[in-house]
Amino acid sequence: TGSLDSQGGKLPNVSAGQTISKEVTILFGSQTGNAQSLAENAGKTLSDRGYQVTVSSMSDFKPNNLKKVKNLLIVVSTHGEGDPPDNALTFYEYLTGKRAPKLDDLRFSVLSLGDSSYEFFCQTGKDFEKRLVELGGKSLYKRVDCDLDFEEPAAEWLEGVTNGLSEGQGESGTQVTTVAPKAAASAYSRTNPFRAEVLENINLNGRGSNKETRHLELSLEGSGLTFEAGDCLGIYPENDPLEVDMLLSELKWNPDEMVAVNKQGDMHSLKDALTSHFEITGLTKALLKQVAQLSTNEDLKELVSTGNEAKLKVYLQGRDVLDLIRDYGVWGESAQDFVSALRKMPPRLYSIASSLNANPEEVHLTIGAVRYEAHGRERKGVCSILCAERLQPGDTLPVFIQQNKNFKLPENTDTPIIMVGPGTGIAPFRSFLQEREESGAEGKSWLFFGDQHFMTDFLYQTEWQKFIKDGALTKMDVAFSRDTEEKVYVQHRMLEHSKELFSWLQEGAAVYVCGDKNSMAKDVQTTLLQIIENEGGMSSEKAEEYLADMKKQKRYQRDVY
Ligand code: 2AM
Repeated sequence: TGSLDSQGGKLPNVSAGQTISKEVTILFGSQTGNAQSLAENAGKTLSDRGYQVTVSSMSDFKPNNLKKVKNLLIVVSTHGEGDPPDNALTFYEYLTGKRAPKLDDLRFSVLSLGDSSYEFFCQTGKDFEKRLVELGGKSLYKRVDCDLDFEEPAAEWLEGVTNGLSEGQGESGTQVTTVAPKAAASAYSRTNPFRAEVLENINLNGRGSNKETRHLELSLEGSGLTFEAGDCLGIYPENDPLEVDMLLSELKWNPDEMVAVNKQGDMHSLKDALTSHFEITGLTKALLKQVAQLSTNEDLKELVSTGNEAKLKVYLQGRDVLDLIRDYGVWGESAQDFVSALRKMPPRLYSIASSLNANPEEVHLTIGAVRYEAHGRERKGVCSILCAERLQPGDTLPVFIQQNKNFKLPENTDTPIIMVGPGTGIAPFRSFLQEREESGAEGKSWLFFGDQHFMTDFLYQTEWQKFIKDGALTKMDVAFSRDTEEKVYVQHRMLEHSKELFSWLQEGAAVYVCGDKNSMAKDVQTTLLQIIENEGGMSSEKAEEYLADMKKQKRYQRDVY
């Protein structure tokens, strides 16, 4: 029963058997949950194939156990300037530091997630691989770097890893296995989105505002989809029809010509493909390199050649596929060639602004409309402008739920919470407060909100008043940055209430920050450290430790973008 021919190497149709002693440890570092679900999926597939699998967040893994691991799979994403996700940080520092052990007996493989429009694409995965090799580890399958459309490469990686594990020498094998999709509670998922009907779509900003923030209500009726406060909704948008038409008019192919939109060979007209299946806004280095291979334009080939990185980087800024064609001509021999260089349309993720308990079978979103000018043309955010300009009640959108385990209300409803969410960063806190109201939570809550003007930009103003009245919200402080001569931001309000804020922290409050990553979230963190330092009478190192401890206890969570 299930005996394994250890000489044979490969594992043809081996059912789970007692004699198999192959252990696999899968560690993930995940910010939005993609790396986590890929790790869990890999765990399921490998245990179905008879391996003893441990799947764990890097933050929960005891580094001392690393020496005992024989087969290690790392699934990790990269953020910002090549940074590891929050829950990978401690392990990353341990492994890259001096205390890391020799790992001569280790076989490993890395799956890295990233976004190729960033300079340090998949850097964390690359770092892990480099370091594991330095420590003596042997690769059991090559590292795979995934862009936003990670499904296909991730499935290929898992196939390769499955084969590599079954090969005694750690070479990648040739045996092909089919990866079973993860069993889900709902029939709908990222790869099979649900078409949700639009129930409501309104502008939250008043007349004369610099901003347009859409409040969207969608129906999940009949989908079986569920979510928790803090989770996100993924939307597959369509490109602007005017942009698609402008693009088609530059191409020499018939818009009705059929092209394959994926590796499975699903066929759509060129027009549909450019509308729904490919990204036509935004350029990446990888895309330009691919295009240059298909193009006959010497200037383009020159632009992507080594030595011209700085120039290329400047070119990529604020330009899209239409600019590329106008500047360097069309590429490829056929419509199929042309689209094959394009990036698959990635879904856009939005923090959910409602609670399922308060609004059964509905999901609400708070979406900021993105409009700006670049290189003499008006540019529009694909999904936000679809919502702002073209989406009517009764229309449908392809959606899925993206869990976010790193942004969750405390399990104990008595725990005080502090929420910092300027602009559209307010979204998950509407969900949190609806949820707390619904569950009759006793814990105190404090909300910091900011935007440009009180008169036009106080998002969901009457709702906060209601929450305060019925006790779901204990305190609220607002910062309207452009009503006064000097700008006031949420962190200034936090600082004004230093003493009280620190006493909430001492009582065990959990702090949540949502919104702009690069300026707001950084400044808020600096302020938080300053408050801990001043009020707690601590050195800056001690304050850092205090915040790191809060992080470990899941009392400092961020949903930043
Ligand atoms: P501003 O646009 O007037 O500079 C939501 O967008 C709010 O966040 C606005 O009031 C915006 O102010 C403010 N904001 C901009 N930069 C910020 C920062 N670094 N920290 C906190 N709030 C910021």
